[in-house]
Amino acid sequence: MTRYQIVASVLGADYMRLGDELAELEAAGVDGVQWDVMDGRFVPNLTFGADVVAAGRSRVELPFEAHLMIEEPERYVADYVRAGCDTVIVHAEATVHLHRTLGLIAEAGGRPAVALNPATPVEAVRDVLGDIDLLLIMTVNPGFGGQSFIESMLPKIRRARRMLDELGSDARLEVDGGIKAHNVALPARAGADVFISGSGILSHPEGKATAVKELREALASLGRPPGTSDST
Ligand code: DX5
Repeated sequence: MTRYQIVASVLGADYMRLGDELAELEAAGVDGVQWDVMDGRFVPNLTFGADVVAAGRSRVELPFEAHLMIEEPERYVADYVRAGCDTVIVHAEATVHLHRTLGLIAEAGGRPAVALNPATPVEAVRDVLGDIDLLLIMTVNPGFGGQSFIESMLPKIRRARRMLDELGSDARLEVDGGIKAHNVALPARAGADVFISGSGILSHPEGKATAVKELREALASLGRPPGTSDST
C-alpha cells in the first residue's frame, strides 16, 4: 500500500543548528524534507540558496524537495537538482513558460512539480498534469510558517484529485500550509497523499518524533490513500 507521506518543511528550523535539525527529522521518521526557497519578490520573505541545501544533503539520506517560491524559477531549477533535490516545485504563477520550465527540471534529472497559490484554479495546470510527478496545492498564502489552514481549499483538492485520476496520473498530490495532526484528515479525505508540515513538527511541545507519530496516527485512522492498492 502506498502510504501517506509526511514531509517536513525546514522553514521554521533553528538555522544555527540546521544540520542537527535535519538529523532529528530523519530520526523522527519523516518521509522527506522540503526547502522553502523564497526571493523576497514572489513572496515577502527571503530564505535558502542552493548552497545551503547542498550543505544539508550530506547530513541525511532523506529525499529533498525544493519549493521555489521565487520569480522566474527557470533560472535556478538546475541548481537545486545539483544541490541534491529529487523534486523541484515551481509556482505556475511565477514562470511565463511553465511547460518549458518543467522540462528544464526533468532535463536536469529532477522530478518536475508545480504549486498553486490559493487563488489559482487547478484548471490552470490541466495541460501539464501529464508532465509532473507532484502537484502542490497551497493551503496558506505562501511566505511564512505558522499560518492557519485555509479550509476553502478542500474543494480544490478534490478537483485536483479527480483531474489526476481521470488522467490516470500517478503524480502525488501534496498540500502545504497549516497542516497539523488535528486537521490533516481533511485534506487526506479530499484526496491529498503528501503532507507538508513545518511548525506542526518543528514547534511541537513534545518534540519532532511525537509530532510525526500524531500525524501518522491521524492518517492511519483513514485507511488507504485514494487510488492505491494493498501492494506495498
Ligand atoms: C509557506 C510555507 C509553509 C511551510 C509550512 O510559504 O510553505 O507552509 O512550508 O509551514 P506550516 O506547517 O507552519 O504552515
